[in-house]
Amino acid sequence: MQRVRKVVFPVAGLGTRVLPAAKAVPKEMLPVVDRPVIEYAVEEARAAGLEAFIFVTGRGKSAIEDHFDRAAELEALLEAKGKSKELAEVRRCQPPAGSLVYTRQPQPLGLGHAVWCARAFVQDEPFAVALPDDLIRAETPCLKQLLDAHAEVGGNVVAVIDVPKDQTARYGILDVTADDGRLAAAQGLVEKPAPEDAPSTLSIIGRYILDPAVMRALDTQQAGHGGEIQLTDALAATIHEVPFHGLRFQGERFDCGNKAGYVEATLQFALDNPETAEATRAAMRRMIALED
Ligand code: UTP
Repeated sequence: MQRVRKVVFPVAGLGTRVLPAAKAVPKEMLPVVDRPVIEYAVEEARAAGLEAFIFVTGRGKSAIEDHFDRAAELEALLEAKGKSKELAEVRRCQPPAGSLVYTRQPQPLGLGHAVWCARAFVQDEPFAVALPDDLIRAETPCLKQLLDAHAEVGGNVVAVIDVPKDQTARYGILDVTADDGRLAAAQGLVEKPAPEDAPSTLSIIGRYILDPAVMRALDTQQAGHGGEIQLTDALAATIHEVPFHGLRFQGERFDCGNKAGYVEATLQFALDNPETAEATRAAMRRMIALED
């Protein structure tokens, strides 16, 4: 089986759910404690062993490119001031030269269209997709768990979570044929079904390993739900061509694309960080006491 080397980060969305914060700053650049949301996804991809990072950006997103570029002046200043810890942190977020590629989606026509905009770089290879809005806290990087599952079953493998039945209309839902509690084989996919129409409660979240057949399906993909070109429609179109599995990954997912999820992620990562843990815990206790 061909090794997965490339990961696509679609970051051209408008982020309307986190306005006005995302008006002048890309939503992927909003910080969770001390680093922007996008950095967690890039770190995860690097830790999973992926080597080529393809960003699909749009207008107003150039801060993302600057973040992963070398900041020579800043580095020189930190060095002169002896701020070695800060210097190491600044350098840590720079993937090796030449491993990053940026392309643009001229209009936000949907996630499927954004992924298709990366086709010249992905070429005819299996590839990963990571939506940075989904921040995943896991011992083994979620993308690594998916790559391991992909090595077992091939085809398309997506990260899934069980959602409450009354929330299926927010997600892409799997039509499951076999389920061993870890991997669920599926024969179909429905985008945002009403609870009464949902074939299961297994919902796709923003991590995928995709077969090149999906990119080919996107070549001719028409607009679907919400007038957008949906990645789930392209996945569904390949279901009789390649195997399709959902992986219940080990870890916790925070949806930073909405305000409540973003706040939750911030609190959890602040509790995880030795620099902020104590103060955050004390503040949370105080606030809860005031609420009661
Ligand atoms: P979302 O629907 O969550 O992102 O898309 P959005 O459109 O930015 O958010 P809202 O709904 O307006 O608040 C999931 C992912 O797909 C990317 C987004 O950047 C996000 O990472 N995306 C979405 C694109 O790159 N292009 C698109 O046309 C749509």
